[in-house]
Amino acid sequence: MWAITFIVLAVASQGALSFNALPMAHRQLANIMLKTSVSMNEHPERNVLCFPIYSQAIAEANERYAVSYNECLDVALNAQNAVESEVANDRSNVYQQGEDVCSSFQGCSKIESSADYFQCYHNAAGTSLTKSLEIQTLAKNTMQYIQLRHQTIEYDKNYCTNKSTDAYIKESTALYTQLEQCLAGGASPPSPTTTTDPSETTTGTLPPPTQAEFH
Ligand SMILES: *[C@@H]1O[C@H](CO)[C@@H](O)[C@H](O)[C@H]1NC(C)=O
Repeated sequence: MWAITFIVLAVASQGALSFNALPMAHRQLANIMLKTSVSMNEHPERNVLCFPIYSQAIAEANERYAVSYNECLDVALNAQNAVESEVANDRSNVYQQGEDVCSSFQGCSKIESSADYFQCYHNAAGTSLTKSLEIQTLAKNTMQYIQLRHQTIEYDKNYCTNKSTDAYIKESTALYTQLEQCLAGGASPPSPTTTTDPSETTTGTLPPPTQAEFH
C-alpha cells in the first residue's frame, strides 16, 4: 500500500528507525493503519462491505497528496530558475570586466618598444585594480543575494510540503479510522468525507527581497 510505503520512508528518512521518533500525527496514522490491516485479516467478511467504501477516498487522498507535494517542489524549482534569470546580467557583467582586464594585459604583451611596453603594463595594472575591486563588490553582493534567496526558497518549500503532509496525515487518519470502525463491525458506514482543497496548500510567507536592495 502506497501510504504504508510513505510511512516507512518517513521513518527511514529521519535516520531513526524508531517508531517513537515519528511526530505524533504520523504515529497515529501508522497505528491506525496497522490496526486496520490486522482487522482486515481478522474480518475478511467485513472487508467486502467496508473496503470498497473507503478505498476510493483513500486513493484520492494519496493522489491529492502526491499532487500538492509536487506542486511545492515545482514552485521551489521555478523560484530557483527565477533567481538564475535575475542574476544573468550580473553574470555577464562580471565576465566582461574580467575579460577587459585580461585583454588589456594581452594587448601590452604585443608591444615592441620597451618604453611603450612598460608604460602599457603600468596603465593596465592601474585600470585592472579598479576593475578588480568592482568585480569583487558585484560578485560579493550577488553571491549574498543568491544565498538569501535560496534560504527563503528552502523555507517556503519546507513550509509547503509540511502543510501538504499535515493535511494528508489528517485526512488519511480520519479515513483509516472510519474504515477500522467499519471493519470492527460498528454502525453501518457513513459516506466517507472528502476534505482539504489542494489549492489551499500554497506558500504563504513573506515576499522575497528584491535584488535591487543589494546594489
Ligand atoms: C517542517 O517540518 C519540520 C519537521 O516537523 C520542522 O522541523 C520544520 O521547522 C518545518 N518547517 C517549516 C518551514 O514549517
